[in-house]
Amino acid sequence: MNTPLYNGLLTTIVIFGASGDLTQRKLIPSLFNLFHKRRTPKKFQIFGFGGTAFTDEQFREHLHKGMQEFAGYEFTDEEWTVFASSLHYTSGKYTETSDFQNLAEMLTVSEEGEANRLFYMAVPPTLFPAIIDNLDATGQLVENGGWRRVVLEKPFGTDLASAVELNKQVHKALHENQIYRIDHYLGKETVQNILFTRFANTIFEPIWNRNYIDHVQITVSEKVGLEHRAGFYDGVGVLRDMFQNHILQILTLVAMEPPASFSASHLRNEKVKVLSAITPMTPEQVAVNTVRAQYKGYRNEEKVNPKSTTPTYAALRLYINNWRWKGVPFYLRSGKNIAEKQTQIIIQFKEPPTTMFPMQTMKPNMLVLYLQPDEGVHLRFEAKAPDTVNETRSVDMEFHYESAFGKSAIPESYERLLLDALQGDASLFTRADEVETAWSLIDPILQTWETHQTPPLAVYKPGSWGPPEAYDLLARDGRRWLNEEASRLLDKE
Ligand code: BG6
Repeated sequence: MNTPLYNGLLTTIVIFGASGDLTQRKLIPSLFNLFHKRRTPKKFQIFGFGGTAFTDEQFREHLHKGMQEFAGYEFTDEEWTVFASSLHYTSGKYTETSDFQNLAEMLTVSEEGEANRLFYMAVPPTLFPAIIDNLDATGQLVENGGWRRVVLEKPFGTDLASAVELNKQVHKALHENQIYRIDHYLGKETVQNILFTRFANTIFEPIWNRNYIDHVQITVSEKVGLEHRAGFYDGVGVLRDMFQNHILQILTLVAMEPPASFSASHLRNEKVKVLSAITPMTPEQVAVNTVRAQYKGYRNEEKVNPKSTTPTYAALRLYINNWRWKGVPFYLRSGKNIAEKQTQIIIQFKEPPTTMFPMQTMKPNMLVLYLQPDEGVHLRFEAKAPDTVNETRSVDMEFHYESAFGKSAIPESYERLLLDALQGDASLFTRADEVETAWSLIDPILQTWETHQTPPLAVYKPGSWGPPEAYDLLARDGRRWLNEEASRLLDKE
């Protein structure tokens, strides 16, 4: 990893929502690991701000417990003690300007001069405007010497109109280059590796288009159900929770043109181009290109409306209308309570135009990017079966992160994202126009689903691979979901 690019000033990280789950599970273990790897700024301090009344000592104790439970790596008490000395806490209300005044005074005293500040919003998005207004009103966003940056957790809006409004509100006090909208999928090594597979090699790019690729499947299936988040999830559903952000982000990386550089603006320009090349669906198109479903028993879950029509599963067929992809279907699906946790991209190549071998044993080439678990990349191709005259068998070239880079080679995605925000690199964060363009694709689907109840809400068995309707979506095109074949590549080892 390159040497961190810091300006030498003290950096203060302020976490709003500091007494919450995200801080304990992800943010502090990630910041600690950056500290352990000597990647944090030389001089830094972390201020937690939250509703719970903690003293500094109680806050540190609470986070220490979280480290033991969630860090997933070994650490020494000595190192924790040094790290913990940089942790401070102040309680306050997000809507109370005087609490922000107190915070400003505490920071000024502790910083003893010019300093950088990273404000991390680990709070529900409804609180973003109040917090930013209060930071602004108390002069905390002014860049007089050090930089000021704000990290915003997802979801960014609940539809296009609310995302546009939220962008307007945050732009009142901040320039776009101070805003870091998080999508934790972009912090995943394997998601970044989509770009490296495509653009650090010469062999894939020439065939990465409509001339060679039959279709693309992106699956993000989850074995887990609602995990105590029913209150939130029932008002949101799978399209807002997984598609508007994570799945569309994966899609942009699979489909984008090579950017001129890895810089934030070049990369994000190309991503926006992909999203802009997808035509938002009409209600008639939503009826035939989408499947929405709920797992059986969902309505009996605690905190779920017994009449809820919130989908916990969706499958979509999308087309990208540009020279590279015209006519190539992208099938996307995600759901809760599915048979297996799998995040994978299947690139299904076309069949050879003609063949001298008996077709019944031949399968088209398939490239699978396993984003999680058993992270890696596999290429299925045909070989002559020994001791036959002209039969073929599918064989596999494979790369596993674990065998190539070691067991714990893959860091937590928040670690990379926090490092990038501290270093001012916004490449792996979503830009205002990108978020809005993504919403412009999701909005018409949501409207048709919610207003017209079209297509009808399907039902699937918990622990299955989703509803029959999702199979029909591909069967109508003479195709099928290929996860079993992809699993077979992994199972045969
Ligand atoms: C979150 C969603 O953004 O991503 C959750 O809100 C989902 O519902 C989670 O479970 C999945 O993340 P991962 O990293 O476990 O694939």
